[in-house]
Amino acid sequence: MSEKSRIKDLRERKSKAHLGGGKERIDAQHQRGKLTARERIDMLLDKGSFREVDTFVVHRTHDFGLEKQKFPSDSVVTGWGTIDGRLVYVFSQDFTVFGGSLGEVHAEKVCKIMDMAMKNGAPVIGMNDSGGARIQEGVVSLGAYADIFLRNTLASGVIPQISAILGPCAGGAVYSPALTDFIFMVRNSSYMFVTGPDVVKTVTHEEVTQEQLGGANAHSEKSGVCHVASDSEADTLYRIRKLMSFIPQNNMEDPPYKSNGDDPLRMEEALDNIIPDDERKPYDIKEVIQMVVDNGDFYEIHESYAMNIVVGFARLGGHSVGVVANQPAVQAGVLDIDASEKAARFIRFCDSFNIPIVTFEDVPGFLPGTVQEHGGIIRSGAKLLYAYCEATVPKLTVITRKAYGGAYDVMSSKHIRGDFNVAWPTAEIAVMGPDGAVNIIFRKELEKAEDPVARKAELVAEYRKKFANPYIAAERGYIDDVIEPKETRPRLINALEMLQNKRDANPAKKHGNIPL
Ligand code: HXC
Repeated sequence: MSEKSRIKDLRERKSKAHLGGGKERIDAQHQRGKLTARERIDMLLDKGSFREVDTFVVHRTHDFGLEKQKFPSDSVVTGWGTIDGRLVYVFSQDFTVFGGSLGEVHAEKVCKIMDMAMKNGAPVIGMNDSGGARIQEGVVSLGAYADIFLRNTLASGVIPQISAILGPCAGGAVYSPALTDFIFMVRNSSYMFVTGPDVVKTVTHEEVTQEQLGGANAHSEKSGVCHVASDSEADTLYRIRKLMSFIPQNNMEDPPYKSNGDDPLRMEEALDNIIPDDERKPYDIKEVIQMVVDNGDFYEIHESYAMNIVVGFARLGGHSVGVVANQPAVQAGVLDIDASEKAARFIRFCDSFNIPIVTFEDVPGFLPGTVQEHGGIIRSGAKLLYAYCEATVPKLTVITRKAYGGAYDVMSSKHIRGDFNVAWPTAEIAVMGPDGAVNIIFRKELEKAEDPVARKAELVAEYRKKFANPYIAAERGYIDDVIEPKETRPRLINALEMLQNKRDANPAKKHGNIPL
């Protein structure tokens, strides 16, 4: 063969590989409103940056007639490219080849790029669209999954791992995405479950659709398995690109700095009036966050799950930060099981990847009741406490209103290594709210009082004057300052810059034992 015809041959081989399972299956994929594996990669990465590896890999199975069906690349496309010029590794399961099912060589390809990502310190983004373990390969495909699970676990906290669920993801296959840092899903075209509707019907007699059982809404609102849900694949991929702008390449790097034109000294007068005079009235903490962060740009994680706490990424003076905020507009911002776990996981991600944590605190305490107690609020609250305690990144806290009880300690207080803790003059820092406190400590006096209602009002007013303010904590240095709300942005940016070279470490250990 001449050199020219060899090049022609190579091109033909590559074109064939790029057709995956063939035109018919590609058309079927498009008819379902789904992109192909390669189209997704092209949409995710910077134009022209993708470099594919293992294009010519084929499976080695001889059972069930599989030896007659070989597709170059098998059922996953792998390689690397860039997002905003920064290196990322990707794998994209190809549903047009054996339903994207995962067998020996599929897993080998994924493991190869995961190993490269670990050596070279860059994130891995996986696009999942698969019928699960390749049935014809039997136990080999189970072993192949486990090879990936191990790598997911070892890579956790070393490189960011992101999963997009863009089709089926069922059975044990869910556990690879579940081990990664963030799961993105598309409404009405992706689903995740350990056992599907048919098994559910047999075992529990419940009738559910795939979407009800494990669609994007179920996982972004009820289970919390999904961190970001979108209406289209294009939007999902765009949001992954945006997420990458806040996070570093690996645990040895700082997150990217991006100056963005918003004045670091900007005061926000409206913050001085945001707290209602009546302490029982809610306000929206997201408005506070948006007024404080650069250009009001807040990238929320878990937007529809445990909405009594708000978490997400933003920039302050160009520095990437993770924001954790109690949400007084939902259940008065109380901490419950879901909120505690949501925030704990987010804090641990930030701490793993050197992203400072900014906490806005307005919390009446932990949610009482048998549902919470029997559900393990003790263990879940401890997760949040543990996450804040172990975090060594810069920790900045602004108490806007209530900081009551154990929740005061938990929410990044000075005592657990908060670096910069300030309160607004509207803050109330005490063991409990005035009403509850008076009922307990003056019970006997109130029983004897001639006019218990009037006496209680007096005692509540006295308690409020004495305790429901930030100055007792300030007298002890438990907060560093009481600031005017409008100053919040410049003060936080100044503190972040002051903390730029912060060094802190935990005692050497194999690993801690977070209450799981
Ligand atoms: C081999 C598979 C496959 C699989 C699908 N295909 N799943 N091939 N192994 N697991 C093939 C089909 O034969 C078909 O091939 C093509 O992919 C498309 O599948 P369809 O069924 O035609 O598509 P659709 O109607 O969209 O249904 C998709 C599906 C369904 C819901 C994913 O295929 C399905 O239920 N598959 C089995 C799912 C499953 O039970 N997997 C094992 C889960 S347990 P042709 O040639 O016709 O195009 C598991 C354990 C992991 O994964 C263990 C880790 C610990």
